[in-house]
Amino acid sequence: MSRFTIIALLAGLIFVLSSLTSAQNTYVGTTTCKMCHNTEKQGKQFEIWSKSKHSEAYSVLLTKEADAIATKKGFKTKAVETPECLGCHTITADAKLLDKKFDVKDGVQCESCHGAGSGYKNMATMKDAKKAEKAGLLMYEDEKAITALCVTCHNEKSPTAKKFEYAKMWPQIEHRVPKK
Ligand code: HEC
Ligand code: HEC
Ligand code: HEC
Ligand code: HEC
Repeated sequence: MSRFTIIALLAGLIFVLSSLTSAQNTYVGTTTCKMCHNTEKQGKQFEIWSKSKHSEAYSVLLTKEADAIATKKGFKTKAVETPECLGCHTITADAKLLDKKFDVKDGVQCESCHGAGSGYKNMATMKDAKKAEKAGLLMYEDEKAITALCVTCHNEKSPTAKKFEYAKMWPQIEHRVPKK
């Protein structure tokens, strides 16, 4: 192999590795998002979320009602120990993708919908929407895109499934930045 080929191969390897690490953002938890997303001016996204049912999606699995649902479904484990239940009720990523501040008890949280935040959470990236999306931030343009996200969990695989109605349900969790 010529020296050039080796350099080219190394460059290729570095490229592959760096794109792999950017695809492997870690989950930083709601307290990280709260630092910047809880002011009046920003739209108090953290407060809106903490008052929503999504913030209780994990704790609801600790109820007797949840255990009864799990038993009825044929599971031998408690609801909160059943991966099938946890999948829609919190983030169940590999432990090495969960930062110290991440809390499974926060249920359906910011990063459930916006993607793991380690790559986009810094101010310089956040202020530039295009940069943020390149760094892993997931955004949803319109009713169609938002509905597609919601029905990944709000569907008939949920043992308590209610029909998902955008016009009724989006306003209950809506958290846009106020218009200037
Ligand atoms: C260091 C402060 C900071 C942190 C931490 C932070 N953000 Fe942001 N974020 C911002 C700012 C500033 C904007 C731009 C707001 C604007 O458009 O006025 C923004 C914008 C956004 C947007 C809208 C992007 C767009 O395309 O309009 C989303 C979604 C978002 N942040 C989610 C999150 C989530 C989820 C977390 C936690 C994982 C987080 N942010 C952490 C400061 C922050
Ligand atoms: C259940 C899913 C879901 C959760 C949980 C969630 N978001 Fe969002 N978020 C969305 C969707 C969908 C939009 C796109 C709405 C739009 O702009 O039309 C959005 C938009 C935003 C925006 C941009 C608003 C704008 O005006 O452009 C910010 C900022 C944001 N979210 C931050 C957060 C933060 C911070 C948290 C956690 C405290 C959070 N979100 C939790 C689904 C979610
Ligand atoms: C990761 C899974 C997941 C996603 C994605 C998700 N949800 Fe939910 N949602 C849940 C769970 C689980 C509950 C029940 C929490 C509880 O009862 O404590 C819930 C409850 C709700 C509720 C409370 C009313 C009810 O039927 O219990 C509303 C409103 C809601 N979601 C709206 C939305 C909207 C709008 C979207 C899309 C922007 C969305 N959700 C996306 C899992 C999800
Ligand atoms: C496909 C996603 C999904 C799965 C899998 C799932 N859930 Fe849920 N769960 C939801 C959603 C969404 C809601 C909100 C109500 C609905 O279904 O529209 C919810 C609501 C609940 C509630 C609140 C009661 C209510 O009527 O709102 C309990 C309790 C619950 N789930 C327990 C469980 C248990 C136990 C399991 C496992 C056997 C499970 N869930 C599996 C998505 C799911």
